[in-house]
Amino acid sequence: PETGCLSIIVLGASGDLAKKKTFPALFNLYRQGFLQPNEVHIFGYARTKISDEDLRWCICGYLAPGRGASAEHSEGVLEFLQLIKYVCGSYDTEEGFRSLEKIISEHEVAKNSAEGSSRRLFYLALPPSVYPSVCKMIKDCCTNKSDLGGWTRIVVEKPFGKDLASAEELSSQIGELFDEAQIYRIDHYLGKELVQNLLVLRFANRFFLPLWNRDNIDNVQIVFREDFGTEGRGGYFDEYGIIRDIIQNHLLQVLCLVAMEKPVSLKSEHIRDEKVKVLQSVVPIKDEEVVLGQYEGYTDDSTVPDNSNTPTLATMILRIHNERWEGVPFILKAGKALNSRKAEIRVQFKDVPGDIFRCQKQGRNEFVIRLQPSEAIYMKLMVKQPGLEMSTVQSELDLSYGQRYQGVVIPEAYERLILDTIRGDQQHFVRRDELKAAWEIFTPLLHRIDNGEFKPIPYKQGSGGPVEADELSERAGYVQTHGYIWIPPIL
Ligand code: BG6
Repeated sequence: PETGCLSIIVLGASGDLAKKKTFPALFNLYRQGFLQPNEVHIFGYARTKISDEDLRWCICGYLAPGRGASAEHSEGVLEFLQLIKYVCGSYDTEEGFRSLEKIISEHEVAKNSAEGSSRRLFYLALPPSVYPSVCKMIKDCCTNKSDLGGWTRIVVEKPFGKDLASAEELSSQIGELFDEAQIYRIDHYLGKELVQNLLVLRFANRFFLPLWNRDNIDNVQIVFREDFGTEGRGGYFDEYGIIRDIIQNHLLQVLCLVAMEKPVSLKSEHIRDEKVKVLQSVVPIKDEEVVLGQYEGYTDDSTVPDNSNTPTLATMILRIHNERWEGVPFILKAGKALNSRKAEIRVQFKDVPGDIFRCQKQGRNEFVIRLQPSEAIYMKLMVKQPGLEMSTVQSELDLSYGQRYQGVVIPEAYERLILDTIRGDQQHFVRRDELKAAWEIFTPLLHRIDNGEFKPIPYKQGSGGPVEADELSERAGYVQTHGYIWIPPIL
C-alpha cells in the first residue's frame, strides 16, 4: 500500500451530504484502522466563517449514532475530530484555495518522512454548478506538486448535469483540468453490498450461466420504493424529478450489472467497458411504455411550484437490443411517498413448457436480490406441499444476510467508495462514456416531461402508486404470484 501524508479535503463541509454521509464514512474508516492518524489529515472547506471547533461540533452528532454510548466510541470520536481542520473560502476565487494549499503543505511537511509522497483527495460535497470553478481552483492552487510522488483525485456526486448536453459540458469542463483516472464519479448504489455481489453471483456460479438470457428469463424488474416524500429537499427535487434522481443513475447502474456480458477480467476498465456496451444497446424508450406519477400534496412544499409537472414516481420499460436480451423487458420502477421502502431486483423466469402442474401453480420461478432493507437473495420455486396430498406450493431458497451472516456489520456504501478512491480503484465509479450513454437513453423522454408534454398521474401518499404503473408491468409480461407468503427467518 501507498504511504505518505494523505490529505482528505471535504469541500462543502457544512452541507448536508458532508455531515450525513462523508464525515461519518470517514469516521468509520478511521475506526477500522483504514485511516492512520500518523498519515491522514482531514480539511473541511466552505464559505461560512466558523472555527475548527464549530465544524467538529456540527459533525459530531452524525458520527455513528446508535453505536455512541461506549467510552471507547467517544474516545474514538474525539481523536477523529482532532484530525479535522477548517478552512473558510469562496468557491470561485483563489484566496481561499491558497490558504487551503498552505495548510495542506504545512501538514505534509510536518508528517512526511523523507520518502513520503503526497496524496490529496478532494471530495466535492457541493452543488454541481460550482464544480467547474472549484476544479479550476484546485488545479491552479492545490494539486500535489511533490517530487516524491503521490496523486490528486477528485470525487464528485450526482447530479452530473440535467441532460445529455449539460452533462457533456460538465464532463468537458472537468476533463480539461483532470484526467479521467483522477475523477471519481460516485453513484452510491455501486457501494451497496448486494449491488457489488452481482458480479460474483452472475459470474462465479455455474447455476446462472445457462439461464441468464432471453430463452429463460421473461422479465426483469429493478425497483426502488421509498415510504417518505421529498421532505425538505423539494426545491432540489423539483428541478430533477425521480428519473434524474434515481432511475438514470442508481437503477441504470444496477441494470448494467444485471445485463452486461462477462468482463474480460476484474480490472475496472474491463468492467466499465461492458457496462458501456450494454447501455449503448438500450433502444429508445417508447411513450406507451412509461407511466409517471406525482404524489398528492407534493406541491404543498413551499419550494415547489403549484403547477409542478415533476414526477415523483416512474415505471418504464427499457429494452436491450442484443443477442442475450432481445425481447426481455427491463421494468424500472422508482417512487417516493409509497407504502413501503425497499430496493430490489426481481428476475422472473418463463413458464415451464408443457407444464403438467400448470393448473395448481401459484406463480413463476423468481430470483430476487433485495438490496435493502434486510439484504437477502432468494429463489422462489415450486415444491411439493409437505403432507399426504400431491399438491404444489411456492416456497423459497433463502439467503437472508441477517441470518446467514449474524454479527457481520455491512459497511455503508460511502465507506467503501471512499476507501476505493484512496486505493485508486475506479471499478465502482461511473466513467465518462458510461455517463454519456446513460444520458442518451433518458434525454428525449426528460425533455418531453420538462416541456409539459407528458403528465404525471396523481397518487395518494402511502399508497402503492397509480394502478396504471402496475398495468404497465403486467402488459410487459410480469405475472404476480398469488397466495405466496414470505415467512421471515428467525434470528
Ligand atoms: C439519493 C437520492 O441519491 O438516493 C434520494 O437523491 C434518495 O432521493 C436516496 O432518497 C436513496 O438512497 P438509499 O441508499 O437510502 O436507497
